[in-house]
Amino acid sequence: MTKIPLTRRPASADQSKAIRNAVRGAEEMPSGARVAMQADTDAFTALIIDPQISDPIYSLPKPITRDAVAVFIDRHLQERARGVGLLMVERDNNKAAAGYYDIQFWPEWAACELGGAVRADRQGAHTGMDGAASAFDWLFDKIGIDLICETAARGNTRTAKLLEHIGFHYIGEIESELPGGSVRPSHYWEMTRADWVAARK
Ligand SMILES: CC(C)(COP(=O)(O)OP(=O)(O)OC[C@H]1O[C@@H](n2cnc3c(N)ncnc32)[C@H](O)[C@@H]1OP(=O)(O)O)[C@@H](O)C(=O)NCCC(=O)NCCS
Repeated sequence: MTKIPLTRRPASADQSKAIRNAVRGAEEMPSGARVAMQADTDAFTALIIDPQISDPIYSLPKPITRDAVAVFIDRHLQERARGVGLLMVERDNNKAAAGYYDIQFWPEWAACELGGAVRADRQGAHTGMDGAASAFDWLFDKIGIDLICETAARGNTRTAKLLEHIGFHYIGEIESELPGGSVRPSHYWEMTRADWVAARK
């Protein structure tokens, strides 16, 4: 299994503390996604039970049951309290979950990885690209990280296109650890703060 991020530049004590505090205090992303609470369990389960959503994502619980999702939400609330993780769920006008972001932070390297999905009926209309771009802006601007790394299964063409359009650099193939302990080959990309600034010019 490959440990990520591959690029590790130690953050100062002040920067890593500021990142932890920003994660602990985060409530809502610019897209409207909010911190997932136990009250989101049914809506979030209904979103990710769709194999079009969950099959490509190794970090989700498998099999997806209401209990497993409740544990997953609770684990992320504990990570948020430590300033190292966020699970954010976006609701539509009918209060159904329309998408989510799962972010793991490494404050000591001012780095994070973002995963997530948009509901199948919203895919393919650049909703994913727009949501990801606004999430990356928020991570650099408001949370204060300096590096975002991303992984995706081989063959996840949409994610590859999305990341490369936004300004990520493809680094190569790594081995991702699955929740059960086995490994999966993944493509791996990084975007530094300097890449992000350059891509916005
Ligand atoms: C990955 C995901 C977030 C992308 O969001 P989306 O709204 O479907 O994608 P977008 O419309 O923003 O399109 C992204 C790119 O993929 C392309 N694309 C869209 N559907 C495609 C398809 N079926 N096959 C190939 N390319 C496709 C788009 O044309 C676009 O590229 P372009 O700008 O060159 O035209 C979304 O598809 C999803 O939730 N997938 C399931 C979960 C998943 O894979 N999550 C990521 C795990 S790391």
